[in-house]
Amino acid sequence: MKHLLSMEDLTAEDIYRLIHQAEAIERGDIPVFSKQLFAANIFLEPSTRTKNSFIVAERRLGLEVLDVSGENSSLTKGESLYDTVKTLYSISANLCIVRHSRNGILREIADQVDVPIINAGDGTGQHPTQCLLDLYTIYQEFNTFQGLKVAIIGDIKHSRVARSNSDALRKLGAEVYYVSRPEWQDEDISENYVSIDEAVEHADVVMLLRIQRERHETAANENNYLHTYGLTKDREAKMNKNSIIMHPGPFNRGVEIDSDVVDSPKSRIFKQMTNGVTMRMAIISELLKEEF
Ligand code: CP
Repeated sequence: MKHLLSMEDLTAEDIYRLIHQAEAIERGDIPVFSKQLFAANIFLEPSTRTKNSFIVAERRLGLEVLDVSGENSSLTKGESLYDTVKTLYSISANLCIVRHSRNGILREIADQVDVPIINAGDGTGQHPTQCLLDLYTIYQEFNTFQGLKVAIIGDIKHSRVARSNSDALRKLGAEVYYVSRPEWQDEDISENYVSIDEAVEHADVVMLLRIQRERHETAANENNYLHTYGLTKDREAKMNKNSIIMHPGPFNRGVEIDSDVVDSPKSRIFKQMTNGVTMRMAIISELLKEEF
């Protein structure tokens, strides 16, 4: 594995290797690099969870962190992402983590650079590190993916998390169902749309998504959204005894999920964030394993 760009590039074996590496890290088996390494975090879209959990993961692994944000970098002077990555490699970056608004931009440059690249979210394309931390969270709970019923609920069309998780979960043997307003259904996913009530009553994993307003051409009417497509307290009460609630964040309390449900015993939303650090340590260790 040279880069991590998309869940489409990972086999089931790759995914299990990363999950087991995350488990080892959580048990305290932290990899140690043999020399000083640098990670460049190039975040050209806002981020709270992904960016800061990468910083924590990098520091826990002993890496120095280079922070490249859009407004403070020479990208504002017209330098391309390709030249930004080459520049950072020239000044010793061993790894580049990139968030960008354009789908597929990392695929365009990855073959032309020597430094490993991790996709930290590209437009509506992919968010593989979020997906892997979600898979780790599900695996901790159920110890398998085979036959699990996972409902992905919300703005599917504009969600890179939905796309990444849908690909990976089906590859691992889960049954994936979708709930979405008709205009937010994805043209690549034409099957398995069900009602919110059906999804919530049968799913082992209820995965909510926020409305991706920044990617909409016209403002959506959100009146009554929680009651028609969201996870209310009444719906949560109808979930199976052992089923769990997930959300990649950022979440909007009272919009797609009732505020009390975010903090309910079934919620693994904050556990996902904690797992994000561990899984990102596992991913960095995998990409830099020649440096041990
Ligand atoms: N889940 C996620 O990508 O959150 P951030 O936008 O805060 O990084």
